[in-house]
Amino acid sequence: MIFIEAKGAKVPALGLGTYGMTGKTGVDGVRFALEVGYRHVDTAQMYENEAEVGRGIVDSGIPRAEIFLTTKVLPRNLGAGDLQRSTDASLKRLKTDYVDLLLVHWPNPAIPLGETLGAIAQVKAEGKARHIGVSNFTVALLGAAVADHGADLLANQVEYHPFLSQKPVLACLNLHGMMLTAYRPVAKGETNQDSVLAGIGKKYGKSGAQVALRWLIEQDRVAAIPKAASREHCQANFDIFDFSLDAADAAAIAALTGNRRYLDPAWAPEWDPPE
Ligand SMILES: NC(=O)c1ccc[n+]([C@@H]2O[C@H](COP(=O)([O-])OP(=O)(O)OC[C@H]3O[C@@H](n4cnc5c(N)ncnc54)[C@H](OP(=O)(O)O)[C@@H]3O)[C@@H](O)[C@H]2O)c1
Repeated sequence: MIFIEAKGAKVPALGLGTYGMTGKTGVDGVRFALEVGYRHVDTAQMYENEAEVGRGIVDSGIPRAEIFLTTKVLPRNLGAGDLQRSTDASLKRLKTDYVDLLLVHWPNPAIPLGETLGAIAQVKAEGKARHIGVSNFTVALLGAAVADHGADLLANQVEYHPFLSQKPVLACLNLHGMMLTAYRPVAKGETNQDSVLAGIGKKYGKSGAQVALRWLIEQDRVAAIPKAASREHCQANFDIFDFSLDAADAAAIAALTGNRRYLDPAWAPEWDPPE
């Protein structure tokens, strides 16, 4: 495993995403990933699977302290009071008394950012979140959080894969000593269809998706959280620690990065241009 060290945290660079993994699929999927060796799990209030994720962790028998667990607060719960109450409910469902990382899931312009950041800082001060952060924040929003409100944030979780450049966001996070957690890191499997990624993978006996994940976690302070309900994908995504990319590979992948964004809901902020 590669670890990211930032803001006093030690974060496994590869984690399991769990969006859509509800019911038995969620419980079994999380438990299986922990058996494979994953020690970083990502969920959210929005996914309605915190209970399953918590059950999978308990059933695995892996000590809670060995797992880096992230959840995210729904946009409608970002007001003072709501944020703390909804986090308490998340912890109950997750069957734990703290998360390692608590994120603001999406910016919500209807609730003042300072109010949200004050509330989430309080959760951290109470020991219910070891670290706090944001998700889907642009450079402007990160600037507002860190510079205007003095927030001490570990991470920004955003879409990131070989088809989407995040250069401006990465530069901003670097400036603040923060990490980037890459969601949709295998582009829902499309990284396997790309001829450049597949060609690089052939050299190492790996798939395009495995190359994409390796490319992400080889970057400074970048983690990736591929979702895999199937055992095959879960195992394959973990089998990326026995090879590394050379400079030519990295250059070929960098040449692919553009502005192919898969997730752009109506409530998204105005994204930064790719360069
Ligand atoms: N913060 C946010 O707003 C936000 C937004 C989106 C996602 N996320 C988080 O990021 C996680 C990952 O993102 P995502 O689920 O959108 O996309 P993703 O991880 O890029 O793609 C998951 C899909 O790709 C398949 N897959 C996984 N590994 C594969 C492999 N090696 N080869 C081929 N196909 C593979 C999975 O199949 P199977 O499941 O069938 O195995 C699943 O259908 C989410 O689960 C969630 O935790 C956060």
